[in-house]
Amino acid sequence: MAPKTPFLSRSDFPADFKFGASSSALQTESSPHEGGRGSSTWDYFLGDLPAVQSYYKYKDDVQCLKNMNIENYRLSIAWPRLIPTAKLSDGVNQKGIDFYNNLINELVANGIEPCVTLFHFDLPSALQEEYNGLLSPNFVDDFTKYADLCFQTFGDRVKHWITINEPQVFAAHGYKMDLTVPDQPTKHPYIAAHHIILAHARTVKVYRENYRATQKGEIGISTSAQWFIPLHATPDDKQATQRAWDFMTGWFLDPIVTGDYPFNMKAIVRDRLPTLTKEQEEMVKGSFDFIGINYYTSRYTKALKISANDVPTSYETDQYVETLTEKNGVPIGEQAGGFDLIYVYPAGLGEVLLHLKVAYNNPKIYITENGYPGKRNDSIAIEEALQDYVRIEFLQDHLSNIKMALSEGVNIKGYFIWSLLDCMEMGSAYTIRFGLNYVDYNDDYKRYPKKSVTWLKNFITGNTCS
Ligand code: NOJ
Repeated sequence: MAPKTPFLSRSDFPADFKFGASSSALQTESSPHEGGRGSSTWDYFLGDLPAVQSYYKYKDDVQCLKNMNIENYRLSIAWPRLIPTAKLSDGVNQKGIDFYNNLINELVANGIEPCVTLFHFDLPSALQEEYNGLLSPNFVDDFTKYADLCFQTFGDRVKHWITINEPQVFAAHGYKMDLTVPDQPTKHPYIAAHHIILAHARTVKVYRENYRATQKGEIGISTSAQWFIPLHATPDDKQATQRAWDFMTGWFLDPIVTGDYPFNMKAIVRDRLPTLTKEQEEMVKGSFDFIGINYYTSRYTKALKISANDVPTSYETDQYVETLTEKNGVPIGEQAGGFDLIYVYPAGLGEVLLHLKVAYNNPKIYITENGYPGKRNDSIAIEEALQDYVRIEFLQDHLSNIKMALSEGVNIKGYFIWSLLDCMEMGSAYTIRFGLNYVDYNDDYKRYPKKSVTWLKNFITGNTCS
């Protein structure tokens, strides 16, 4: 099947542009209690789901990367594997340190640069039990100490750090909807987000003051982004796009770029939105070397009426926006994976990138996630799953939008595909398959390259045949 966009190859991108694959510990490692790992709040939801055994098969994973000629791998460290109680003063789990050392060494030995996320959804349960996790300012101290341990232990080999993955998802889903943290007695996503921002900024400060000079790495955050298109060309629907952006991506990017929350959030959320002290503002402003963007889909926005007497009550109603996946019955794009997460809309990535340049003073950007889940089908035959021509088209179409944004002067430095492997997907378990490599859940979790691997390999080596 011919892609809609012309074939691209690596030479269409700057020589220092990084191509990589992404993953996370929670979704791939398995064996939550193996090797002395402590619990994470996710264990409550997942029970004994086996994930894809990367704790044991990490060498196979590295070979999958090598097989694609991919030179960058975004992985995450599971905080409870490194420090089971989450408190550095209680001691570290040497087996956890050994595991990440082995993985990082294996990557480096194979010429692959690790890019490490410190927090990708797996909050140590101990912190939730002790002080309600992200609702307590103690989170900031404990996270910073954990991050410090990571810099100290792995920073000689890791030169790219991401503090926190998709903070909006964690704060809103965890501390509002009980989806990543069970059974919240109180619903305070804004407080959770505030502590995420402070934990991020303090960690960046520690890195810059104590490690940068010797380790010479860079550090940023990965936020989710969608492009929002007004449903109607009315001023109300146009303003709704800005509110939708502010409550998703601006919530974190505005503070770290400007030192303050977005205007819309302050105006609507008012005294339920924490404020940054002068000292915090100084620490938060500019606390990034790069911005990571996870892009999957876009939405239409429709304004909901705001009246002077309205008392906003929750994260959803605060936005006064309805986001929609179709206009006049026509979906914004193909609905992939059978769930709302993805209506394929590659042009939205281009728009997000152009917007970041203008709204945030042309920051250095990595696209830290973008990927295609295929159809929802847990029993798809391997022969069929390996012929993933639609994923190739998906990648081509998104890459061509990146190329467009580069030509407009957006400072994009890399593109990481979600995901290296089929793996556990939050809320969907194993029913959708984002992987470039197929994982056979019925036969020892063996990995098999899909057609997109061949394509990627050719792309990277400059060979234009698909
Ligand atoms: C974003 C998350 O970071 C990742 O964990 C998830 O699997 C993908 N989106 C796909 O939903």
